Amino acid sequence: MDKLKRDFLSISDIKNEIDEILDLAISFKNGKITGKPLEGKSLAMIFQKSSTRTRVSFEVGMYELGGNPLFLSSSLLQMGRGESIADTAKVLSRYVAGIMIRATSHQTVIEFAKEANVPVINGLTDLEHPCQALADIQTIYEKKGDFNRKLGYVGDGNNVCNSLLLISAYLGMDISIATPKGYEPNEKIINQAKNISKETGSNILITNDEKEAVFKADVVYTDVWISMGDEEDEEIKRNKFLKYQVNTELMKLAKDDAIFMHCLPAIRGEEVVTEIIDGSQSVVIDQAENRLHAQKAILYYLLK
Ligand code: CP
Ligand code: NVA
Repeated sequence: MDKLKRDFLSISDIKNEIDEILDLAISFKNGKITGKPLEGKSLAMIFQKSSTRTRVSFEVGMYELGGNPLFLSSSLLQMGRGESIADTAKVLSRYVAGIMIRATSHQTVIEFAKEANVPVINGLTDLEHPCQALADIQTIYEKKGDFNRKLGYVGDGNNVCNSLLLISAYLGMDISIATPKGYEPNEKIINQAKNISKETGSNILITNDEKEAVFKADVVYTDVWISMGDEEDEEIKRNKFLKYQVNTELMKLAKDDAIFMHCLPAIRGEEVVTEIIDGSQSVVIDQAENRLHAQKAILYYLLK
């Protein structure tokens, strides 16, 4: 067993390799990397929450690289009956080459990584969704050609937003985030991103003003108002988020050639209106496709 392993729990874990992983993702998409580099290797995929894109892109990605993906619903693992994370992580490490986990709490993923002897990948937690952010920058690069851009994010300052904030800071891309009061991104991540931006030149704005966030943006991005596990104060939240909806009026404040992005799943009529998400500026399906290419890049990078 190898204790010298790389985990991918946060965008900061790959801060020096973002360009390299992006290049790999593009090469996978263009068919420039072929063969079965992960032949004979298995990936355990543990899900404590629902998933369509993450599950299927990791599963298909692993298959296309010659490896063997194992879908493990946490409720059917002994973990769901109280087996410790440590025992689960140590035992799985004897069978598989890597572990991907979508967890309710970021702490679970950190503990998993500490106990596992193989690379652990964050497939979404309450704090970050780094795999999503990698596919997103691939999409922005494809559509815009560079990162000398402004991303305007409106809505919940949650997992997706936190990872976008970090990756933008590392790439030197400008990012303006507008959320209702009390739903700002994670404070530690804001500070981390602001420190990074001193080196990279990224302009970072955290505001409650949705118009300012999308003004002259090249990319307008939003995420659901009610994330998985946040169902408790649904109605209160919906009311606070109303003015952060991406609609035709808000979209008009962005550049004429701005693209609309969403990690999906989306609720039409809540965070975005149908005219925008199904309109000509929307790139959400290409963005979802890139999850597959980005996932293959991550798997190749960590497990080959
Ligand atoms: N964007 C995303 O992670 O989608 P899933 O929840 O379907 O995996
Ligand atoms: N913020 C959303 C992202 C889903 C991919 C959630 O956590 O449910």
